[in-house]
Amino acid sequence: MSLTGKSAVVTGAGLGIGKAMAEILLLNGAKVAILDVNKTALQSLKESLKKEHGPEKTLFLECDVDCVFFCQAAFQKAADTFGGVDILVNNAGVLDEAAWEKTISINITGVIRGTYVALEHMNKLSGGRGGVIINTASMAGLVPLLFCPVYTATKHAVIGFTRSIAAAAELSGYGIRFNAICPGFVQTDLFSNIPVRIGQYSHLSGQYHQMVALRGVINPSEVAEGLLKLLTDETKNGEALLVIPHKQEYVAFPEFLPITE
Ligand SMILES: NC(=O)c1ccc[n+]([C@@H]2O[C@H](COP(=O)([O-])OP(=O)(O)OC[C@H]3O[C@@H](n4cnc5c(N)ncnc54)[C@H](O)[C@@H]3O)[C@@H](O)[C@H]2O)c1
Repeated sequence: MSLTGKSAVVTGAGLGIGKAMAEILLLNGAKVAILDVNKTALQSLKESLKKEHGPEKTLFLECDVDCVFFCQAAFQKAADTFGGVDILVNNAGVLDEAAWEKTISINITGVIRGTYVALEHMNKLSGGRGGVIINTASMAGLVPLLFCPVYTATKHAVIGFTRSIAAAAELSGYGIRFNAICPGFVQTDLFSNIPVRIGQYSHLSGQYHQMVALRGVINPSEVAEGLLKLLTDETKNGEALLVIPHKQEYVAFPEFLPITE
């Protein structure tokens, strides 16, 4: 699938991985609605991206994915401005083991909410033109991270939701592909703040440092390259792409027999 002329919505795109994702979408010819709860980040990105890509290619919208009204209003604005939406990246996420209920709410409910709001616009069964939805999961969705169990649970949930709705969408004829991207450690604010955000597990921060030394850290732009791969390869649905240093690899999950009755 070519991205030229397509319109995209990226949540949590003011900083970090989401910002790199928005940038790669723009460089490949898409129009992008950049959603974030952080108004300062939105403002500074607005100045640089408008200069680089022209005012008609971007839209900057304050949006907390933890609030359905924000999500509905932002999606509607993106659809009205760009004449529909073809791509959603549910990227906003937090790691805060002390505020664990908030972490669940943003990382799981936020992704499901974003998806359901997008379906109202994109689902071919309700008059949309189909497209692609990519959810930002994590390496933490595939392996246990002992210093952040709640964050780990949320990312496992994102992968489970993505793979299940991908199959449901295909069987039902939504015309939408769903995939998850699973980065390892990425040099962003979320990553830098892990030692102070692991709450009751702070005594295990040594494990975090060891794991970082062993696994390495990538740049947000490397995750954005992975996003491009998932968006452009129309054969991929229900996949999880692991992005770690020097490697992009589709995850091999155990196979189960399809339910026939
Ligand atoms: N950094 C890593 O090591 C890493 C690894 C794997 C997955 N991830 C995932 O990647 C995604 C992006 O993380 P990042 O590292 O770029 O983090 P970040 O903190 O650098 O950036 C996240 C952005 O999301 C925004 N955001 C936070 N809560 C929001 C909300 N409720 N509504 C809207 N926007 C919100 C923030 O304001 C910020 O601009 C997250 O889902 C995270 O779990 C990060």
